[in-house]
Amino acid sequence: MTSEGERLAELAKRRGFFTGTAGPYGGVAGFYTYGPQGAALKDNVEAAWRDRFVTREGHMEISAPTIMPEAVFDASGHLQTFTDMLVECADCGASHRADHLVEDHPDSDVEDAEALANEAVAELIADHEIACPACGEPLAGEPVEDFNLMFATNIGPGDASPGYLRPETAQGIFVEFPQWAEYARNQLPFGVAQIGRAYRNEISPRRGLIRLRELIQAELEHFVDPDTDEPPLERVADVVVPLYSVPAQQHDDAVAALTVQEAVDEGVVESDWVAFYLGLSKRWYERIGVDMDRFRYRQHLPGELSHYASDCWDAEAEVDGDWNELTGFAYRGSYDLDKHAAHSGETYSVFKQYDEPVTVERATVDPDMSVLGPEFGADASAVATALAELAEDDPDAFDGTTVTVAVDGERYEVAVETAGFAVETVQESGEHVTPHVVEPSFGVDRLVYTVLAHSYREDEVDGETRRLLSLPPEVAPTTVGVFPLMDRDGLADRARELVGQLRAAGLEVSYDDSGAIGRRYRRQDEIGTPFCVTVDYDTLEDDTVTVRDRDSTDQTRVEAAELAKTLVALRDGERSFDEL
Ligand code: GAP
Repeated sequence: MTSEGERLAELAKRRGFFTGTAGPYGGVAGFYTYGPQGAALKDNVEAAWRDRFVTREGHMEISAPTIMPEAVFDASGHLQTFTDMLVECADCGASHRADHLVEDHPDSDVEDAEALANEAVAELIADHEIACPACGEPLAGEPVEDFNLMFATNIGPGDASPGYLRPETAQGIFVEFPQWAEYARNQLPFGVAQIGRAYRNEISPRRGLIRLRELIQAELEHFVDPDTDEPPLERVADVVVPLYSVPAQQHDDAVAALTVQEAVDEGVVESDWVAFYLGLSKRWYERIGVDMDRFRYRQHLPGELSHYASDCWDAEAEVDGDWNELTGFAYRGSYDLDKHAAHSGETYSVFKQYDEPVTVERATVDPDMSVLGPEFGADASAVATALAELAEDDPDAFDGTTVTVAVDGERYEVAVETAGFAVETVQESGEHVTPHVVEPSFGVDRLVYTVLAHSYREDEVDGETRRLLSLPPEVAPTTVGVFPLMDRDGLADRARELVGQLRAAGLEVSYDDSGAIGRRYRRQDEIGTPFCVTVDYDTLEDDTVTVRDRDSTDQTRVEAAELAKTLVALRDGERSFDEL
């Protein structure tokens, strides 16, 4: 029996959705090329995302380069920690994800091998006598190593300036944060979005668009004041979300269907901001055609969390029995902005003006360097800095006659009178806040793949099996197929005239005059075209055309003069076919 994935791959290639890249040269794993239908579907998914998460929320959208200098990924932590567990077969040289081999082995009860040490995973491979999936030779004894997934390159000739293809679009947003803050007039909260390509040298890419080496992300970095900003939870409070929490996963419990409000009140989702995005996104997935019976939000297990995240939920959709991550909703805290501030020396915070100046007491020091210098020599200025920090963090430490500070692990005792400790009363007009980041990060290719898989149907029409993609009109690559019943008697000319009018109204239209009318309908059904228009002999008499609905195959007649307006209303969901 053909699997869902195989059926999809066949349809995708035959009808121009996507195909493996560089086929004539033997192909290259992890790279796919979108054909005309796939590119249009992808563009429509991106447009729907932009509409929902950027335009309607009033956020900014930027477009950063895909290659960045090494310093960016040193600061972000990707250079050190963006790794997967690699095991190589000594016999055939094939590379495998060591954690996946362990998790997928029938005798293994390990669900999260990524959380284990490399040596422990190597031991499990030996204990379970796991063989190389490529050649069948045992992998026991082979080391498990960290493999960094970033593609490395050199910027300019020579190797003096190493760079990397970005593994996530997010860093292009974080690294220029001071500029975005300025454009936002230093007022939190604000969001910066980006849709673009990212690159991950996956150890074992999968067939289809699920695990690619070049992928498209649609990411939103929402910068919020952790002390005062709250999400507009009331907008999504009643949305029911299917939640598969860590405890539910650990106890093999079912997915819980809770409203967003219940999820927050019961503490199932810790961050209100993350909960807000789970609600907002659930409605959006439905809108673009993800089947809600094959959808859930799964919380990351502790060992699964990325180096930057304190909590993370994934939107997952089932295809072919596998649950695939569509989107990661992470609470990144101030991790990225702190790192870029520390590595670049620039300011990655916003100055938040108070409504009115406030009077505060501030502890300061004015160390007597003529005493500290001779006493501490080369370390004197570091001791003075440590005293200033201590005064700010713990003024009570200066209550006695001496105070102790640590510099590079060494402890220094200083007489309080030498420190020049004082408490001043000052007026402050505002404060520096390093925003926290809430990040919904969508994978566009996985969305395209899921929407295709979930919209595939088979039914029977005129005694024959019909295959169709029941895509929502908003994302369907073509909105209308226009056919003349015959290629004569002026029917084709009238149909072409209508095509021009429909395109001018902003509709995606395909003209087809080849073969029997039934075959033309089937072709459009298979690429998910929601409406077909046929120009027939009645059109020449009364200037009406037949409009056919893809899913029901029902037909009705519409005046040609009203056609563009009617089809735009159908595409935008302002009218339903039944109403016509
Ligand atoms: N900035 C956060 C981030 O990149 P992620 O969970 O690693 O988080 C976000 O990736 C999304 O990108 C995933 O939910 C998934 O949809 C998509 N994605 C990640 N790796 C992918 C791959 N190798 N192939 C296709 N899509 C991928």
